[in-house]
Amino acid sequence: MTTNRLEPCIKLPLENEILEDIVDKAKDWALMHGAGMRSKVNFSKDSLQFAPFILLPSTFPREEFNKATEIQIILNELIHKVAHDYGFLSSSLKSTVEVDEFTSRLFKIYETVHNEGTAQPVCLGLIRSDIMLESQCTENACCTVTGPYCCWKQVEVNTIASGFGWLGPASASIHRYVLQELGHGDKIKNVPVNTALEGLCGGMLEAWKIYGDPNAVILFVIENITYNICDQRFHEFEIRRQNRMVVVIRRTLTQIADTAKLGKNKELSIDGLSVAVVYFRSGYEPAQYPSSKEWAARLMIERSLAIKCPSIHYHLAGTKKVQQTLATPGVLEKFLTDPAKVDAVKEIFTGLYSLDLDEDGNRAAEMAIMKPECYVLKPQREGGGNNVYGEKVREVLQSMTDSQERTAWILMERIIPPVQKGYMIRPGGPEVPQLVDLVSELGIFGVIIGNASTVIANRQVGHMLRTKLSSADEGGVAAGSGALDSPYLID
Ligand SMILES: Nc1ncnc2c1ncn2[C@@H]1O[C@H](COP(=O)(O)OP(=O)(O)O)[C@@H](O)[C@H]1O
Ligand SMILES: [Mg+2]
Repeated sequence: MTTNRLEPCIKLPLENEILEDIVDKAKDWALMHGAGMRSKVNFSKDSLQFAPFILLPSTFPREEFNKATEIQIILNELIHKVAHDYGFLSSSLKSTVEVDEFTSRLFKIYETVHNEGTAQPVCLGLIRSDIMLESQCTENACCTVTGPYCCWKQVEVNTIASGFGWLGPASASIHRYVLQELGHGDKIKNVPVNTALEGLCGGMLEAWKIYGDPNAVILFVIENITYNICDQRFHEFEIRRQNRMVVVIRRTLTQIADTAKLGKNKELSIDGLSVAVVYFRSGYEPAQYPSSKEWAARLMIERSLAIKCPSIHYHLAGTKKVQQTLATPGVLEKFLTDPAKVDAVKEIFTGLYSLDLDEDGNRAAEMAIMKPECYVLKPQREGGGNNVYGEKVREVLQSMTDSQERTAWILMERIIPPVQKGYMIRPGGPEVPQLVDLVSELGIFGVIIGNASTVIANRQVGHMLRTKLSSADEGGVAAGSGALDSPYLID
């Protein structure tokens, strides 16, 4: 198999002396401009480390970048409609709910509020669609271009805790600085403007206005320990910058369980403060609900009059099982009436297969057992580190033959992105980093506000790029194997 390569934005390698100097400067730039995280090894609220980053922006084709940004408003609309279709969510998640405890508990909350009638019909979606360039989709009709890539494919859509609205733009600021310092200031024009932070926070403020209580606050639901603190705090600072009257409070689900109340009109209040908007940066994985208390807190939030980002039905619309169902022939047409939109979305799906215990599921499982390296096996989890790759795909599938457990998973064709050379800079790394092979994943941010019948706002607001070693399966930055990056657009 030949490796498809994209050329870096400047000639590499850099001479050791130049490299050592620019790495030193770039690390300080990152730290001093908020591209940081808390250390997992020596956690302290009193200090930050720079977040791992790629020294130079990664080459990305402009045309594909533009296509990805343009389609975001269609994806926003799609997710919004899917989230409001009770029948569709119920039938898509039926088999999953039977075997997956976490999805089942989320679904119970959804059913409860659906049956009671939702107090707050308006939803705020801060969505991130993650994509990868595809270099080897030989079986795909779109594969007519000869070159290092042919198109891009969607990895997943995140509807809860879609991070990097700050670290995305911050990465571009490191790269503009590095290009300038290396004498390539003329190239800065190819690093696109990124207004993700303004756009996402603007969405929260628009929802806050719709809520209509000038004294109400925005609640960030946070983890017990926040490592990705810069990304969260900069959202908070930006909200204040755009509207100095709006207060942000931060609480864990456990704290919410202990202190939150619902008023007579289901107003959510915490420590005497009314909550207009609830923004979840936690609550997407089982460990974030250590006891029934946290589940009760989630239910209380869902029952409340506050505008949720996301509402429970938006959360469910972002599950992998729903993504797989949407890729089934004939399904998109139910949600998107314009055939051009249907075609545009169809093109971005790579092969997605149900693993239900039926003929189709068996066929998919057999296919992956034959060629495990061509697939990724995904459970209904978010946050990285849960998928299965390579030889293990075979082992896990074989261990689940005839087991109901298989229905909690989906199978996805593995996307093989083009590789490019670059330097990954990590805390505690060498002063002179090695030139390594890297692959990237682009995330496009969307904001959508609306209720079941009306869309009030629908925008594409910015992007983020994450890059990992080409040999790594996953590239979570907070998880430790990926690094911040930004696109360098080429024609
Ligand atoms: N089909 C795929 N082909 C190649 N890599 C994938 C694929 N699906 C997921 N990955 C890799 O695994 C990571 C995590 O998968 P993802 O579906 O985004 O789950 P999570 O919700 O855990 O983020 C992605 O960021 C990407 O690096
Ligand atoms: Mg992901």
